[in-house]
Amino acid sequence: MVYALVQGASRGIGLQFCRHLLNKRPATLVIATCRQPDGAAELQALQKEHPNSLQIMQLDVSNEEQIASTAQQVKQRLHGNESSSKGLDLLINCAGMLHPSGRGETSLRAVSHEGLMTTFATNALGPLLMAKYFGEHLTKGSGEFGQSPSEGHSGTLVNMSARVGSISDNGYGGWYSYRMSKSALNMATKNLSIEFSRGRRKVVCISLHPGTVNTDLSRPYHKNVAEDKLFTPEYSVERMMEVIENLNVEDSGKFLDFAGKEIPF
Ligand SMILES: NC(=O)c1ccc[n+]([C@@H]2O[C@H](COP(=O)([O-])OP(=O)(O)OC[C@H]3O[C@@H](n4cnc5c(N)ncnc54)[C@H](OP(=O)(O)O)[C@@H]3O)[C@@H](O)[C@H]2O)c1
Repeated sequence: MVYALVQGASRGIGLQFCRHLLNKRPATLVIATCRQPDGAAELQALQKEHPNSLQIMQLDVSNEEQIASTAQQVKQRLHGNESSSKGLDLLINCAGMLHPSGRGETSLRAVSHEGLMTTFATNALGPLLMAKYFGEHLTKGSGEFGQSPSEGHSGTLVNMSARVGSISDNGYGGWYSYRMSKSALNMATKNLSIEFSRGRRKVVCISLHPGTVNTDLSRPYHKNVAEDKLFTPEYSVERMMEVIENLNVEDSGKFLDFAGKEIPF
């Protein structure tokens, strides 16, 4: 049995990661976190299909206390099962937002302290705090998600980033909160990759860009995207899982796209 945790699993890409893992990797126990389990109808339906391999837990990633207590509960779950690897093999930080208004700022006039803080809390601070509290579990992972054999690879940490967080790729400006929060997330990934490379058991940490995916987050902008450039969640997650399954310790700290191609910071 291998263990995967998808943080931000109520809908969109996170939900699809859960579906993919459950359907394509039957020996995986998936822990799906979301801030309102009762309102996550599709995730609840998935749980009914996979009652023994999907566990749903409540977690608002902008709340550090909740992250700490969820990590504690997961620890009990990992240690409560004698046949378990007693480690977390994969953690995907998927929750994200464009901006609390649902639309990125087009100019400085739209920038606000509140908008910046909420977006940063969800997109950058939450994933870093997840790493703080779940790092211990990841260092006990089995390297199951990754290219085998990869020397010293324990768990895998995937931070769902976005190409617009690339500073060198920024040709249009705008979307201050989203771009800045994803750039900060990428820095967190890089820092984490350094810290988690020091021990004997190395956690491979990457930032991953899913492409432009047909979800609620991108919906306001679909009319500007060519049909063949707007991925379904199924396609995007399939491609990203191929990337994840092929990681090795040398990849840690990279910013990759859904095709495994490196994106410059
Ligand atoms: N879609 C794209 O084209 C695209 C492109 C590049 C990167 N991404 C990234 O991919 C990730 C997933 O996006 P998506 O397209 O699947 O978006 P989505 O369909 O809008 O889903 C966003 C998810 O984030 C969760 N969330 C937001 N704030 C949260 C919080 N404080 N605590 C816990 N969960 C929270 C939402 O939960 P609720 O249901 O509770 O609101 C929802 O599950 C994001 O990090 C996004 O930046 C997406």
